[in-house]
Amino acid sequence: MEVIKSVNLLKERTEQIRQSGRQIGFVPTMGYLHEGHQALMENARKANDVLVVSIFVNPLQFGQGEDFDTYPRDEQRDKQLAEDHKVDILFLPDVEEMYPNKPVIEMKVACRVDVLCGRSRNGHFDGVVTVLTKLFHLVQPHRVYFGLKDAQQAAVVDALVKDLNFPLEVVPVSTVREEDGLAKSSRNVYLSKEERLEAKEIYQALQLGRQLVIDGEKNPDTVVKEVEDFINKHTHGKIDYVEMLTFPELTTFDLVTGQVILAVAVQFEKARLIDNVIFDQNGHISERL
Ligand code: PAF
Repeated sequence: MEVIKSVNLLKERTEQIRQSGRQIGFVPTMGYLHEGHQALMENARKANDVLVVSIFVNPLQFGQGEDFDTYPRDEQRDKQLAEDHKVDILFLPDVEEMYPNKPVIEMKVACRVDVLCGRSRNGHFDGVVTVLTKLFHLVQPHRVYFGLKDAQQAAVVDALVKDLNFPLEVVPVSTVREEDGLAKSSRNVYLSKEERLEAKEIYQALQLGRQLVIDGEKNPDTVVKEVEDFINKHTHGKIDYVEMLTFPELTTFDLVTGQVILAVAVQFEKARLIDNVIFDQNGHISERL
């Protein structure tokens, strides 16, 4: 595995790879790699000749009072995990290297952001698309991999790539779950024993919502209400949102007629958990961008 810290060197390498006709798979991350990232690397490894992973904690996507300085970092462990997953190039730039000057161009995401987690994270996705635009230019990937646990981010990246005609494919990767259905997340360690037992009910609530659609319920308000009631009944967590939207457009609708996302965020004492299911009008899991 080659560890590259310089933008120019990365560009040189990826140009060489492209010219040799090899296909590049890219997994952008902010490090502190977990099972979700590992699934992305495994998918990318299988479908491409060359696997590039970036680790860069992007200051532009952290708002005031958010945890940029305390964001968990463990470079040694990440390097080992990347080696284990047969990464060819690990791109590890520092902030100076990525943003040598205050950016002159500001990017603004116009849609898909005033819902779900984006509602309370003003400007977050502007920072995400800025760094991804830079990374896509540098890495020149054929395919990029995004986990559907953060389905809103995947939907925004889908729009970035389509709107700005990036010549690459966005590959959505299913959420990795514990045996009882809880979506894997580095935040799960902050759950108390009792909360951990309750947390599995979030996935059960999502399945209940999907089952209602399978049984013929097409009104999103009814589904949302049932899911909320279930979470309130089975957990002590505080619901931040339960929303049902079209996917990947993330707009509201009156009746389920196409692909939709049913998404929740629940605040426990020290951990805020998010999860979702994406399915079609018949309730069949379908995770298309
Ligand atoms: O999902 C993340 O870790 C980040 O938002 C990403 C895509 C690496 C951009 O900084």
